[in-house]
Amino acid sequence: MRLGIISALAEEQQGLVEAMRGPATLIHGKRAYTLGQLWEIDAVCVLSRIGKVAAAMTATTLVEKFGVTHILFTGVAGAGDKTVQVGDIVVAEALVQHDLDASPLFPRFEVPLTGLSHFQPDPQLSMRLSRAAHDFLEQDFLDAVGEGERRAFGLLQPRVHRGLVASGDQFMTDRAHLAGLNAALPGLVAVEMEGAAVAQVCHELGVPCAVIRTISDNANENAAIDFMRFVKSVAAQYAFHITRRVCRD
Ligand code: ADE
Repeated sequence: MRLGIISALAEEQQGLVEAMRGPATLIHGKRAYTLGQLWEIDAVCVLSRIGKVAAAMTATTLVEKFGVTHILFTGVAGAGDKTVQVGDIVVAEALVQHDLDASPLFPRFEVPLTGLSHFQPDPQLSMRLSRAAHDFLEQDFLDAVGEGERRAFGLLQPRVHRGLVASGDQFMTDRAHLAGLNAALPGLVAVEMEGAAVAQVCHELGVPCAVIRTISDNANENAAIDFMRFVKSVAAQYAFHITRRVCRD
């Protein structure tokens, strides 16, 4: 196995490159790819930057140039449903591009000429992620996230959810927009800006992938402020400990 690990921003992957044995960094397509041994696993870490094109370019490069056999996307997301709270963890069971609409030529959300709207991540890798997320919450959480942060973000008993993740080239800050998506996409648990693009690339190249997201905001009018605060002080702890557990599993 050679695992490609993608995040949009540095805070969503902080500490992983530092934890690598024998790291070597290569620049390609204006991104830094760091190869090395991450705990038990041969890995390549990279920051995609934000958005579906950036993520698709990065995933393609990981497979075609760096020979990864699996891809893991780790980062934050907005809550896609009222049952999902800030600090909860979401493992994607399916991914859809919520801003893709070529109707009336093709059904809303369908990727034209593929017959597909939803892409499924790899069940085994996703199961490994779910286990790692549960173990993180049970065993690492209280040590990893300080009391001040837990209180500031109201992180009482974070939970792990499995469900539909919707990606689009929009930072969601509108309650009504989210409600519309929620009605159109049953099982929606999170909104973000990269996962479904990575899932489509991986589907087309035949590479297993999985997506895990920590909820940073409620995708409403406060989303930008909540997102910035969460990314600055909490996101890295989740990403580091969960990835460590996945690699050691
Ligand atoms: N990632 C984190 N929060 C988000 C939001 N509200 N919209 C899109 N992507 C996000």
